[in-house]
Amino acid sequence: MIEVEKTESKSEQYRILTKQVISMVEGESNALANMSNVCSLVHHSFGHHWTGFYLVEDDELVLGPFQGPPACTRIAKGKGVCGTAWSTGQTQIVANVHEFEGHIACSPESNSEIAVPLRKSNGDIWGVFDIDSTEFGFFDESDQSALESILAFLQ
Ligand code: SME
Repeated sequence: MIEVEKTESKSEQYRILTKQVISMVEGESNALANMSNVCSLVHHSFGHHWTGFYLVEDDELVLGPFQGPPACTRIAKGKGVCGTAWSTGQTQIVANVHEFEGHIACSPESNSEIAVPLRKSNGDIWGVFDIDSTEFGFFDESDQSALESILAFLQ
């Protein structure tokens, strides 16, 4: 697998990442396998602190495939950054997690975060894709649009 040079621009990193994701998930129908590879590709392309999926199970999010240190297993709807992404249906970009009311601190090293809700074709949310960075303000709208496009390949 090609490791993306850290000197490349974010848009170039996402362009390469998108090609890698397409080549990995096309032709594979197993959701767990595809989530695992998408998670690994995103995580290692950017050297994030934590990258993973939370999956809707009844009225909670339950930890799914991830890369990085161990994380909290269950998150209630509306709680923390991930639970807010689920309850609002909107991607959450948090420049400083320490200022986010109700943030669930799974790791003291996490300083910024993005949480993207994942939708079925009927619009129902089936999970949340979450990334934590040690850098403050790492994520912006360019991450949101690139990640939303990449994650649509998981439908
Ligand atoms: N910080 C998240 C919890 C998940 S971890 O970051 C892996 C939140 O507030 O939802």
